[in-house]
Amino acid sequence: MIIGVPKEIKNHEYRVGMVPASVRELINHGHEVIVETNAGIGIGFTDQDYVDAGASIINQASDVFAQAEMIVKVKEPQAVERAMLREGQILFTYLHLAPDLPQTEDLIKSKAICIAYETVTDDFGGLPLLAPMSEVAGRMSIQAGAQALEKSNAGRGMLLGGVPGVEPAKVVIIGGGMVGNNAAQMAVGMGADVVVLDRNTNVLRKLDAQFGNKVKAIYSTADALEKHVLDADLVIGGVLIPGAAAPKLVTKEHIKSMKPGAAIVDVAIDQGGCIETSKATTHAEPTYIVDDVVHYCVANMPGAVPRTSTFALNNATLPYILQIANKGHVQALLDNKHLLNGLNVIDGQVTCQSVAENLGFEYVDPAVALIN
Ligand SMILES: NC(=O)c1ccc[n+]([C@@H]2O[C@H](COP(=O)([O-])OP(=O)(O)OC[C@H]3O[C@@H](n4cnc5c(N)ncnc54)[C@H](O)[C@@H]3O)[C@@H](O)[C@H]2O)c1
Repeated sequence: MIIGVPKEIKNHEYRVGMVPASVRELINHGHEVIVETNAGIGIGFTDQDYVDAGASIINQASDVFAQAEMIVKVKEPQAVERAMLREGQILFTYLHLAPDLPQTEDLIKSKAICIAYETVTDDFGGLPLLAPMSEVAGRMSIQAGAQALEKSNAGRGMLLGGVPGVEPAKVVIIGGGMVGNNAAQMAVGMGADVVVLDRNTNVLRKLDAQFGNKVKAIYSTADALEKHVLDADLVIGGVLIPGAAAPKLVTKEHIKSMKPGAAIVDVAIDQGGCIETSKATTHAEPTYIVDDVVHYCVANMPGAVPRTSTFALNNATLPYILQIANKGHVQALLDNKHLLNGLNVIDGQVTCQSVAENLGFEYVDPAVALIN
């Protein structure tokens, strides 16, 4: 199969669909990989790195789209990219179609085979191609929070780990899933006093087994939440109720009663945020202040560390890219029900139930759409 990797064109997007090591794996399996010139330059990969891995370099995105049987990207295709898709071509990338009617209409019109990273599932009820970005954001949240606590950023002027003779900062993490667990790892590593609140007792058991008495794993009632948030130096928002907007667990009144200079990193901002005073920010201006509390609410945190994020994403996507390339999309999708869950649009039909329901399209069972 000919696999094409265009350079990402969304504003400030430096990640790339495939690193040279992934290219080499595909070449070793007998495939051909074409990469747009400078596709990886933002994260330190030169065209020569890709050539060394066995890829051919193509100067124009239009030629990559024209020649490739499968396009592997990171972000959803922009309008100019959608116009270059063609019938029967495979697109494998993040799509996030449910709130995006123009993109969905264009993908339907293209008659391409559009597989979304974010709806691929696994045997444990997880979303394996979303998980790496939660790992990155969770770990980054402590880094961002540590900076927000610095005096020059209007924080309390505290070091997370304290020093000998001086108490560490108290970090309260709401939600102990992928984001929360990774945040806890970093916070413990930096020597903070760490509390994680979750409503799932299995999550609390796992935290307890993993961290012992270095993390206080607490059941998340309104009472416990209020007690710990008001006493926190840094709060991390990492809750998720799949498919729903994040619940506003920290209210305006809580914010008013928090310590002046305390900081909040609301990682769940991409689902609307779990803090009532949160509003999405960008890396250009990541923080703002409400009632003396520093708020960091960047909706695409992994974008700040595109090199790490690209490797993490590639580790997760490569097995699926190989399955599709080796077997062809029909067999790969029929053989793997979790990959089939990633199929959002094929041959002009919407095969993801939530996308169809959200946007008012007829839903077609992906297995049926595939064999027709
Ligand atoms: N801002 C970013 O750049 C960025 C990047 C990656 C992920 N995210 C977002 O971070 C959020 C968390 O993602 P995740 O992968 O960790 O999800 P996850 O499903 O692994 O974990 C969420 C946890 O929240 C817990 N929870 C639900 N309701 C709760 C409540 N009332 N109190 C306490 N805990 C509660 C769940 O039990 C679960 O353990 C999501 O909204 C995700 O989209 C944001």
